Amino acid sequence: MHIRRMTPADIETVVAIDTAAGILQPWSTNAYARELLKQTTFCWVAEVEGRLAGSLTMWEVVGEAEIANVAVHPDFWRQGIGRALVQTALDKAAELGFTRIMLEVRASNTAAQSLYRAFGFIEDGRRTAYYTNGEDAILMSRVETSGQ
Ligand SMILES: CC(C)(COP(=O)(O)OP(=O)(O)OC[C@H]1O[C@@H](n2cnc3c(N)ncnc32)[C@H](O)[C@@H]1OP(=O)(O)O)[C@@H](O)C(=O)NCCC(=O)NCCS
Repeated sequence: MHIRRMTPADIETVVAIDTAAGILQPWSTNAYARELLKQTTFCWVAEVEGRLAGSLTMWEVVGEAEIANVAVHPDFWRQGIGRALVQTALDKAAELGFTRIMLEVRASNTAAQSLYRAFGFIEDGRRTAYYTNGEDAILMSRVETSGQ
């Protein structure tokens, strides 16, 4: 598996992966194109034998970071790709000196919550009926301290 920064040529496949992975409100190709132009947004893809298997987008929010999107194609679930993508984001956040990393996840999405907990993210809030299907959003964050 190889992780690299996303390029415009990856976008259509990334959107297809988001959809296949069941992301509730997948971003459009235009939304990804806009993010790729920003200095404060970081998008990575994971490749397995030349095939795109997943992606992660993190952006800066005033000195902190937010994992805005992560998805792995179902063909590649439980092979460590999500973990590798999150680790890549955490490494970048540490390099840039971000003090906190935040994210929101659907209350029913126990797979993603387990992944984040394994990295020391803790639940620190909830937004009731946040998603279009009426589901709550769980807010999670990880405070960066030296040695973590
Ligand atoms: C969440 C997601 C990105 C995980 O990707 P992945 O490549 O399968 O994850 P990994 O193989 O790296 O798993 C790392 C750990 O996460 C947890 N995990 C992952 N999938 C899980 C599942 N289905 N059930 C329970 N725990 C799970 C486990 O702790 C796992 O470690 P283990 O395999 O050693 O037990 C993937 O399931 C996905 O794309 N889901 C749909 C999109 C999504 O939910 N995105 C997150 C929105 S906030």
